[in-house]
Amino acid sequence: MADFAGAFASSHGPLLVREWDSVPQSEKLRLEKAFRELGRRVTAARPDVLVTVSPDHWANFSLDNYPAVCIGVGETNEGPPEPWMKAYPHRELRGHPGFAFHLLNESLQHGFEPSQSHRLKLDHGTCIPLWRMELSKMPALVPMLVNSIEPPMPSLARCLEWGKLLRKAIESFPGNLRVGILATGGLSHSIGEKTMGAIHEDFDRETIKLFASSEQSLVKYLEKELPSRGNGSEEVRNWLVAHGAAGSRGFELVDYLPVPAVIVGCGFASWR
Ligand SMILES: [Fe+2]
Repeated sequence: MADFAGAFASSHGPLLVREWDSVPQSEKLRLEKAFRELGRRVTAARPDVLVTVSPDHWANFSLDNYPAVCIGVGETNEGPPEPWMKAYPHRELRGHPGFAFHLLNESLQHGFEPSQSHRLKLDHGTCIPLWRMELSKMPALVPMLVNSIEPPMPSLARCLEWGKLLRKAIESFPGNLRVGILATGGLSHSIGEKTMGAIHEDFDRETIKLFASSEQSLVKYLEKELPSRGNGSEEVRNWLVAHGAAGSRGFELVDYLPVPAVIVGCGFASWR
C-alpha cells in the first residue's frame, strides 16, 4: 500500500514569471516566501510521486479534442512549451507509469473515464509552482489535467469525488510509495474577457474560509459565485481535487495575497 504524503496547492498565473520584474518588492518577498514555504512542506512530506492537478492551457489539447480529465501515464513528460518559460531548468520530467496506470485502472473500475496520454507537455500551470518552490529533489510526476478553463467543465462535486478516488488509488497501490498531490490554479483572476485583471479578494477570502467548512457549503458557494468571479477562478476545481483526497477537512493556509501586477489572487495551502 502506498502512503498519502499530503496535498499542496498553489496559484500559477503566467505573469508570476512574465511580469515578475514589475511586482512591487514587498509582494515579491511575500510570494517568494510563500513558494519556498510550500516547497519546504512538500520536501518534508518526502513524496516519491507528486500527482500534479492542473488545467492544460492549450499546450496539449485544443477545441478539436479537449478531455475533461487526462492522466499522464508516460515514463517522461515534456517541460513547458511556452517561450517565456525557457529558463525553467527541466526539459523533461520523469513520470511514474506504475502509479499512473494503477490510478487509470482504478478510475475506470469505479465509474470515472479519464483519457490517457503517454507523453504530455507540462505547461506553466504545472511548472511555475514546481519551479518557484525550489525543490531540492524533483519527485516523479503523474500529471492529472483537469479541464478548468473551457466550459463546460467537470462539476465541483465531481472534482471532490476525483480527489476521493485518487486517495483510494493511493491506498490500494501495491507498493511502497509515498504519493503527494500538487493542485495548481486560482484563486480569482480573469483572462481574455472584459473583466481581465479583476481580482475578487472577498471571493478568495470566503473560499479559503469555506474550505474549513462542509463540502456542501463550499460547493454551494462556488457554484453560485464562480460565474461572476473571472474565468481563471474556475481553476479552484483543482484545489477541490486535493481537498477531496485529503478528507475535506480544511487546509493550512501558507499565504494569500492579491497581486495586481500579476492579476491573480495568489493562494498557497497544504493539507495533511
Ligand atoms: Fe491557469
